[in-house]
Amino acid sequence: MTKYTLTINGKKTQVEAEPDTPMLWVIRDYVGLKGTKFGCGMGLCGACTIHLDGQAIRSCQTPISSVKATNKITTIEGISAGINIDHVVQKAWIEEQVPQCGYCQSGQIMSAVALLKSNPNPTDDDIDTFMSGNICRCGTYVRIRKAIHSAASEMKKK
Ligand code: FES
Ligand code: FES
Repeated sequence: MTKYTLTINGKKTQVEAEPDTPMLWVIRDYVGLKGTKFGCGMGLCGACTIHLDGQAIRSCQTPISSVKATNKITTIEGISAGINIDHVVQKAWIEEQVPQCGYCQSGQIMSAVALLKSNPNPTDDDIDTFMSGNICRCGTYVRIRKAIHSAASEMKKK
């Protein structure tokens, strides 16, 4: 076991783990943040998406040994400013009633937030391309697209 210092949602956290432990398990089982989901464990579904310095990454494919204390890890629990669900993308998700079973949705939201950061005015094609790694077995893709457009419009007003 090796000791690691991580910065998760703005807080420094000490974790002891094997170097090849995926960040997905670190976040869920060691740190106790259960919003990030396990889907495939192979980098294929996007359910485990988190941000590393603002970039969407697959936490199931990211060993703890590759993350430095200076890297900023953000999970679904950390995208709102406070305890309320107040991120513009989360609000759009609620407004458009995107989730069905909900299992994939934290990963979808994390990818959508990263997309809008890099491209504040995405076209349908931009959305489909960027979000193509996030699978939804309930088929909520049309509402996801609508919610991303809606969040993009809200962001323009600010
Ligand atoms: S659980 Fe990581 S991509 Fe599916
Ligand atoms: S809402 Fe059920 S898998 Fe996406």
